[in-house]
Amino acid sequence: MNTEVETQIELQDLEPSNNRFRAEILRGLRKMPKELPSKYLYDEKGSQWFDRITQLEEYYPTRTEARIMEADIQEMTDLIGTDALLVEYGSGSSVKTRILLDHLKDPAGYVPIDISRDYLMISAAQISKEYPDLEVLPLCADYTLSFDIPKPNKPAKKRVVYYPGSTIGNFDPIPAQHFLEEIATVCGPGGALMIGVDLKKMPVVLHNAYNDHEGVTAAFNLNLLERINRELKGDFQIENFKHYALYNPIKGRIEMHIISLMDQTVHIDGVSIPIANGESIWTESSYKYNLQEFAELAETAGFQVDHVWTDDRDWFSVQYLTVI
Ligand SMILES: C[S@@+](CC[C@H](N)C(=O)[O-])C[C@H]1O[C@@H](n2cnc3c(N)ncnc32)[C@H](O)[C@@H]1O
Repeated sequence: MNTEVETQIELQDLEPSNNRFRAEILRGLRKMPKELPSKYLYDEKGSQWFDRITQLEEYYPTRTEARIMEADIQEMTDLIGTDALLVEYGSGSSVKTRILLDHLKDPAGYVPIDISRDYLMISAAQISKEYPDLEVLPLCADYTLSFDIPKPNKPAKKRVVYYPGSTIGNFDPIPAQHFLEEIATVCGPGGALMIGVDLKKMPVVLHNAYNDHEGVTAAFNLNLLERINRELKGDFQIENFKHYALYNPIKGRIEMHIISLMDQTVHIDGVSIPIANGESIWTESSYKYNLQEFAELAETAGFQVDHVWTDDRDWFSVQYLTVI
């Protein structure tokens, strides 16, 4: 991504504070089993690692989702219609968004929301430069908390939330329902959610996608410990930990862990945390759905499924949901 973008855009900044980050990390490390919120995988370095993941041969989701979008973009933008405010949750580098923006008719504006502040700024400025007629209103926030959507100058006929990348899979089923309910409120009457949902498939494909041979996913995962060292005065010795990811077919999810290679005690801002040899720190889940399961989840949350697009192998879906 070009980091020398001159376009000036205003960021609405609700980035979680350092105190909040510290409190959530310590709470997670005191749990049994230990777990850290996946949203903290994404600082600027984490977002850069994620972008490299999306290029990996084994990581089919980004490529497959982009192909679905390219194949069916006309139908998608016809459903969205004119003068819509496009609100993207977890926008990252907004790569697939460009497919939408290239075809959308007179969008009222674009609100990229992401927790990864510096990356969001670079990415939003780049979009603003590439689409000079589009009002870009970036918002740095933890989208699981409450916030107001920035208002564009041009009146919007409706709000369309775009939530690609199957990031919905990071939520356990009940929190996923509550989160979709919140999105339905943000969309409002007449609004819609366009969402990327990864589908159940052979475990070996899923396993390989999260265990790439170059070790990029491992570096992305372990960056969380480096981030804690950088921002919270932590002293994790990264070489004493190992990335571990597996597919759990009973739960229908990838589980990503960091495993301790020895009995050790780490310190975070003066707080001691003992970790046993072989103990896991759970950093991310990624639930996979079949179409029926996701339709039931969406309907419980107040959406109806209007349209589903998939690829030839039925590995990934892009879905257009409207508020009931
Ligand atoms: C799996 S990546 C997907 C990125 C991009 N949308 C794509 O499809 O390639 C998840 C994105 O959501 C952001 N994110 C994760 N949890 C978040 C949260 N709680 N609040 C805001 N952004 C979050 C991350 O920073 C990251 O950019």
